[in-house]
Amino acid sequence: MPNAAPIRSEAPQARSAPDLPRGAQAGTPEGIEALIAAMTLEEKAGQLTIMPAALAPSLANAANPEAISGTPSQQEQAVREGRLGGVFNGDSADWHRRMQHVAVHESRLGIPLLFAADVIHGFRTIFPVPLAEAAAFDPELARRTARAAAEEATAVGLAWNFAPMVDVSRDARWGRGVEGAGEDVLLGSLLAAARVEGFQGARLDDADAMLATPKHLAAYGAAAGGLDYAGADVSERTLREVYFPPFQSAFGAGALSTMAAFNDVAGVPCHANSWLMKDVLRGEWDFEGFVVSDYTGDFELIAHGLAEDERDAARLAFAGGVDMSMSSALYARFLPDLVRAGEVDEAEVDASVRRVLKLKAALGLFEDPFNRLAPARTEKGHAPTHRELAREAARKSLVLLKNEGGLLPLARSAKIALIGPFAAGHDHLNGPWVLFGDPRQATSVEDGLRAAMADPQALTVAAGCAAEAEIAGGIDEAVSAARAADVVVLVVGEGERMSGEAQSRLDIGLPEPQRALVEAVRAVGKPTVLILKCGRAMTLDPASEASKALLVAWFLGVETGGALADVLFGDHAPSGRLPVSFPRHVAQSPFHYDRKITGRPPLSLQHGEEFKARYRESLNLSAWPFGHGLTYGDVAYADLDAGAGRMAWDGSLEVAATITNRGAREAEELVQLYIHDRAASVTRPIRQLKGFKRVTLAPGASERVAFTLTRADLTFVGPDLTWIAEPGRFTVWIAPSAETGVEGEFELLKP
Ligand code: NOJ
Repeated sequence: MPNAAPIRSEAPQARSAPDLPRGAQAGTPEGIEALIAAMTLEEKAGQLTIMPAALAPSLANAANPEAISGTPSQQEQAVREGRLGGVFNGDSADWHRRMQHVAVHESRLGIPLLFAADVIHGFRTIFPVPLAEAAAFDPELARRTARAAAEEATAVGLAWNFAPMVDVSRDARWGRGVEGAGEDVLLGSLLAAARVEGFQGARLDDADAMLATPKHLAAYGAAAGGLDYAGADVSERTLREVYFPPFQSAFGAGALSTMAAFNDVAGVPCHANSWLMKDVLRGEWDFEGFVVSDYTGDFELIAHGLAEDERDAARLAFAGGVDMSMSSALYARFLPDLVRAGEVDEAEVDASVRRVLKLKAALGLFEDPFNRLAPARTEKGHAPTHRELAREAARKSLVLLKNEGGLLPLARSAKIALIGPFAAGHDHLNGPWVLFGDPRQATSVEDGLRAAMADPQALTVAAGCAAEAEIAGGIDEAVSAARAADVVVLVVGEGERMSGEAQSRLDIGLPEPQRALVEAVRAVGKPTVLILKCGRAMTLDPASEASKALLVAWFLGVETGGALADVLFGDHAPSGRLPVSFPRHVAQSPFHYDRKITGRPPLSLQHGEEFKARYRESLNLSAWPFGHGLTYGDVAYADLDAGAGRMAWDGSLEVAATITNRGAREAEELVQLYIHDRAASVTRPIRQLKGFKRVTLAPGASERVAFTLTRADLTFVGPDLTWIAEPGRFTVWIAPSAETGVEGEFELLKP
């Protein structure tokens, strides 16, 4: 941020702090109170300030707009003078040790520093992007990858993670859906809790525990027009039903920090939104942790048109409930003076400082500030099992949309033309939010496939074009490769910088040079597998859609090539499901399966009915629905049974269906349970996911899969904005996706 000055010393510091507890004693409740009593206003503001690490890898520096945080020695001096409570996105254990030494031994009060970072989906070992991992519909997998990430990250001293991102995202134009769990509230809530548990581990004061930060509070994904940073004009009902539950779930799992969102909600920027940060977060949810600004979100209150100037921005953000300021240095510069001028109550500042110090104590930093930084941990490197876990996670993230004529799995002996801008090389494998992983560690698609083929020379590779540009002669080369092959594997989609922060898109299809490539290769007429790399739902042009097999491969991380080979050659069946609906056209955005039914729903799937909720060009349906994904088996659903069709008010209801694998290969099926409330005091979604179960079926095998529903599954935010259930009739589906399945009905009886 151009206007942010390095934090300067603005007031003389007291030279000594006699009789203060040090070390573990300082982290006790009494010790924390003694510290607060001894702190100058500048030292208090320092504890409420975090700056970008002066020593950080280049990718970390590039992840945010520039903020002037000074040189390493200037930052050391700021720590020595008690003007800085933490730094983020550094990865040098040596420098972290040096900084911690200065904080603990050379500053007046000896308060340890907090080292934070964006460890979104892996630290050195990069796992699939969170959206991809959501496709596995496997909270335990998400917990395990988060745990592995924390084990690696804490070994360089990091104790606080700016993750998980738990923003529900329902608009494919918005680029940051790649960091979250997709469009569904239930899946998002389960994954939010699992990731918090993974990052934080068994106890926060363990050497490998990282404090989690569910972010961004709130409704960041509801940005108008899918434009990153735009306002979210959502109703309180939608906040409570859709955007809040993943946060509540994350806090329920023990997360003790959160980050304000850049956007405004119904006109009030989150960074100055005391209803959100105080009334709801602390008042209703009893949140005891602390709130950090999202980068210069406090300073941005000026651009929002809320604050007059920087001082006013600091005042408004603090009054809004933001405890700690990141990157802008506004609290360090203005909070002391705001207190002296009577515009901010010092008791409120003390409360924020107390929250931060309590968390530092909970992380074990007072007890042993170097716990995470023990040289033995750094030197050990990361476990080889993390690479195996990355392969498992990548494999489980793959979603097979279509497999005409059983083209997949491929024979290992097939002569393959591997075509597309992402066919070879190490770029575009990890995804947009990787600050600490080395892209060269990732296995390319080419290397993964060659290693699994009977004759590695039977693979020909042609890029055809770059992600967003033509290559001279590229299409000709690709066409010749296709002509000479038995089968074409096209790897197309988004480059890794086409999704992520500030990467909103107007067109969610393939960039034009790739469309031309796909068309030219299709004209050759060879059976084609299209692998789609993306950080969002995309729309497919007719030539891409006409491929015999379609596999969504997102950004898979270090084991991209190996995982793709595992599935393409049939060592493992694909098992992922879409965590976001793929719309037919970008103009349907925001498009999600649990939209409202409207007063004039189309009566049939015939297009062209007048005076119905449809577009002139298409019904408002998906191209590929939420929850969809094939395996190599052939699965059928039958015989839904909702028991007597009645649920007592305090009772439960078992709903079951028979799932059969009619195919010749084993099937791994994700069986989903959906409901629809037929008449309620507020309109209800077409369907809502209420559960899912994974079953493995041998060829020819059948299994009865049952779910238990209770009244809690039928609640919604009623007319008075509280959660209620209402007696009445419900439709229920057991289904392989949000637009299919076997259907029944039941009634919730009056109390
Ligand atoms: C801005 C992003 O919105 C946020 O998610 C991230 O944690 C911060 N930058 C710090 O890198």
